[in-house]
Amino acid sequence: RRVEADRLARINEVACDFYHQILLESPEGGAARRYLRDRGYDGEIARRFRLGFAPERWEALAGHLAAKGFDPALGRQLGLIRPGKEGRSDYDLFRKRLLFPILDLAGRVTAFGGRVLDDSLPKYMNSPESPIYHKGRVLFGLCEAREGMRQRREGIVVEGYFDQMALYRAGFTNAVATCGTALTVEHARLLKRYAERLLLLFDQDSAGRKATFRAMEVLLAEGIPASVVALEPGEDPDSFLRLHGVDDFSRRLEAARPVLEVYMETVLAEHGASIEGTTRAVDEILARLRLIPGEIERSLYLRALAARTGIAEDLIRRQAEKGGPANRP
Ligand code: CTP
Ligand code: MN
Ligand code: MN
Ligand code: MN
Ligand code: MN
Repeated sequence: RRVEADRLARINEVACDFYHQILLESPEGGAARRYLRDRGYDGEIARRFRLGFAPERWEALAGHLAAKGFDPALGRQLGLIRPGKEGRSDYDLFRKRLLFPILDLAGRVTAFGGRVLDDSLPKYMNSPESPIYHKGRVLFGLCEAREGMRQRREGIVVEGYFDQMALYRAGFTNAVATCGTALTVEHARLLKRYAERLLLLFDQDSAGRKATFRAMEVLLAEGIPASVVALEPGEDPDSFLRLHGVDDFSRRLEAARPVLEVYMETVLAEHGASIEGTTRAVDEILARLRLIPGEIERSLYLRALAARTGIAEDLIRRQAEKGGPANRP
């Protein structure tokens, strides 16, 4: 197993170097170099994150690995090489894409994410799961960010590759990206090793809001305090930094609010001020507050909920202890 993992990691490493050289030096990488430059990312960032470019050819990597004498089965196991059908030769998974290597904590390449340079679809493609890549256990940028997280005692969680790089470039070296997947318990436990608290900075759209509150449930159960950063509607950290600059961004970080407060406010507002709406909102909120392991903290949130709704505090407390409508006979 161990030997197999090492051999797979070696293939990813060779592929990473291959794609990286093309991005930095080859005429085939020209369009990708321009793309990065237009988005404000220079060669230093490309080298720091070992970004790559997969050329348009069908067998660029397949040919490179074959020429180096690697077993083609390994490339196929990683999903980097796709088996050709009906006697045709194998071909590359990534073609004409900007590549982001995803590293494990030892700095080894476990997988790649790849973005098109135009607006064709799908915008991003990822290495499939493999013996060395489980997307629920890896965070993009963690290898680079863990030292920053330790120093600041705080981690920033964003959605995308470019968001993570935008923060890094702006000096916020404590950010990781979930790469569009939901934050998992394994992610939370990884982050807990380095950060005492988290800032959630997902895209400012309905998908990002949903992701924020889903992450909140995981973090509550793991006992990791988290706050939410609000940017302009429709923006993500990369676009916000480009449009508004670092000073404005820093002020947004300072104005971060505890995720539970934002959650309570959002749910109460969504359900409206009617008796029925408030009743349902309170049920929903209590289901989350019950997840808080610390008694003192839970108690403070119950008091805040009582204050916000005007419901008597002891009634809220009794309701919280009941275990919710789902558990009632
Ligand atoms: N993602 C993915 N597959 C997709 C779309 C998105 O894996 N088809 C992941 C990527 O990791 C992406 C993240 O989800 O970075 C967030 O998606 P999105 O906001 O759509 O992309 P951005 O990161 O903002 O990319 P860009 O700024 O280049 O448009
Ligand atoms: Mn999206
Ligand atoms: Mn998005
Ligand atoms: Mn985005
Ligand atoms: Mn973006």
